[in-house]
Amino acid sequence: MNTSAPVLAPMALSESTAQRFAKEVAKYPADQSQSAVMACLSILQQETGWVSPEGELAVAHYLGMPVMAVREVSSFYNMYNLKPVGQFKINVCTNLPCQLRDGAKALAHVCERLGVESGGTTADGMFTVQPGECMGACADAPVVLVNDRNMCSFMSHEKLDQLIDGLRLAAIEKATP
Ligand code: FES
Repeated sequence: MNTSAPVLAPMALSESTAQRFAKEVAKYPADQSQSAVMACLSILQQETGWVSPEGELAVAHYLGMPVMAVREVSSFYNMYNLKPVGQFKINVCTNLPCQLRDGAKALAHVCERLGVESGGTTADGMFTVQPGECMGACADAPVVLVNDRNMCSFMSHEKLDQLIDGLRLAAIEKATP
């Protein structure tokens, strides 16, 4: 019986992804292309929605670095999705300063409203809800980050409901011809 694990093949980069990688690498001296690892992982995630093991391998090959070094970066920062996520990723900050101002209650409210566990994705694939690390806006707690880009401050339960409704509406409008 063959018990060896299947060999992973690097993801084939699209032309636009390769062009974007090259643009990032060009920002650094020729012998320091590995400095572009975070940017390349972000580009990969923007283009595919998440950072798969095949994607990590593609980044490692492109930058000439060990795949383990790429994994050390992708697994350190929670902005990288190491598994597929919903159309909208909602991170609710639950670090201590936010905890003191209802961060955990905000997370619980979003989970309850969407019917998912923390870390889960709704059945329609629209929302993924995750606890988040400090977003540098502790005075604005509760704080929510949508798709790693859009920060929302002072998120009362009412504002969280409005956010969810607004995102859902935006997705429906985008999908309507
Ligand atoms: S602890 Fe939540 S933004 Fe800093």
